[in-house]
Amino acid sequence: MTAQIIDGKAFAATIRDKVAGHVARLKADHGITPGLAVVLVGEDPASQVYVRSKGKQTVEVGMQSFEHKLDVDTSEADLLALVERLNGDPAVHGILVQLPLPKHLDEDLVINSIDPAKDVDGFHISNVGLLGTGQKSMVPCTPLGCLMMLRDFHGSLSGMDAVVIGRSNIVGKPMAQLLLGDSCTVTIAHSRTKDIADVVRRADIVVAAVGRPEMVPGDWIKPGATVIDVGINRIDAPEKGEGKTRLVGDVDFPSVSKVAGAITPVPGGVGPMTIACLLANTVTACCRANG
Ligand code: GUN
Repeated sequence: MTAQIIDGKAFAATIRDKVAGHVARLKADHGITPGLAVVLVGEDPASQVYVRSKGKQTVEVGMQSFEHKLDVDTSEADLLALVERLNGDPAVHGILVQLPLPKHLDEDLVINSIDPAKDVDGFHISNVGLLGTGQKSMVPCTPLGCLMMLRDFHGSLSGMDAVVIGRSNIVGKPMAQLLLGDSCTVTIAHSRTKDIADVVRRADIVVAAVGRPEMVPGDWIKPGATVIDVGINRIDAPEKGEGKTRLVGDVDFPSVSKVAGAITPVPGGVGPMTIACLLANTVTACCRANG
């Protein structure tokens, strides 16, 4: 079998078009321009790339982008003061503090200082609680993008066996909540899981979110299963020349794509969906703020 490719890049483009239409109507009918503030502390190269991309796409859909780049040794008090200012700024409807933060800053404290109504990442403890109890909340962008692709591909997910590999607060745990909300039978597998291959082999849906390059081989996959690869890992690629690198997922694409029924590629799968969902969450936050 050769898996069908789930084209996240194309799907994300359709979401961005819808967001742009919504933004245009908010401007024309209500004189409101949604605004997204992104805060980056330090100079982590991967984070810089993400933040630049978020800012560019925010402007492309007609929203206002506010970028705050802070020095790597910014104090916690200064960062909290900035978040407080953004909480009170009526032009800012969404706030995202790029993670990871430098070690001297308390991530939980900073995330929980964001107004939950502006928490477009869905990381604030109130949003986590609302999601876990099935109430209206801000939903973390990466798992939301994965869910949208799964719903688009399958229609109903009800009754399917889903295995999420990875238990992070950013992806694994909210992904499991969302799949449960769609009536999947959900297992979270992680580094201490016994017989992980057997666990994954039971799944109709596999979401790999561990951050380890190509760790899921084809013989872990049930024939015909749908595989969502959240990993974005840069590895050496000597075959491309000295010092060259390439992006790979958490899934070994060559072997898994021979067994799975459908698979998201890396790049061009989950990555573009994450930013598209961030833009959609910002419009949602703007609409809720303006009744
Ligand atoms: N770092 C990696 N992924 C994310 C994300 O979705 N949001 C934020 N704020 N930081 C991240």
